[in-house]
Amino acid sequence: MAGKMDKSNNKNHSGPVKEKEKEKDSGQPKHSVSEIRERARRHVEDGAVTADYAADRKKLIKMLNESLATELVCVMRYRRHYYMARGVNSESVAQEFLAHSNEELEHADRLALRIVQLGGEPDLNPDTLTERSHAEYIVGSNLKDMIKEDLVAERIAIESYRGMIEHIGSSDSTTRRLLEDILAVEEEHADELASLLQ
Ligand SMILES: [Fe+2]
Ligand SMILES: [Fe+2]
Repeated sequence: MAGKMDKSNNKNHSGPVKEKEKEKDSGQPKHSVSEIRERARRHVEDGAVTADYAADRKKLIKMLNESLATELVCVMRYRRHYYMARGVNSESVAQEFLAHSNEELEHADRLALRIVQLGGEPDLNPDTLTERSHAEYIVGSNLKDMIKEDLVAERIAIESYRGMIEHIGSSDSTTRRLLEDILAVEEEHADELASLLQ
């Protein structure tokens, strides 16, 4: 059985190899090394953003800045909840708030770094932070309220990140991977908070 499978795999592999050979024979490869070298020399000031970059850079930077604002608002809301947690089991919940706050700050740093790589500027203006953020800064009057508000914010972040990932598609795989990484952590956060509410 394994031998048969190997054979069929080899057969399948011969297709693309032949295609490549054809490409070579025609003398017109899609991207020749000399063309790539030539393009890389043009606009070196663009750094990591090369001529074949397929995403709408301006729009993407704006979206990443909205996510950055969202993360920073979440850092502060979780921080506030960490300091204000009172009541039964509040100590362990407070530690959860602090851990989430630190992870949101990590997300903010990674987003800011990517914005700069794409030739943009991270918007850290505190005056407009809550306007640009998708999630809200709601303090909550008791521990249960705090957990609920944090869960709502996580669910907002999850939907926003999923929408961005869908929008990016295959146009910018690095940003897409970054957002997928962050999305996975937000889903963990939401799950942890949901179990605290049970
Ligand atoms: Fe986050
Ligand atoms: Fe989160």
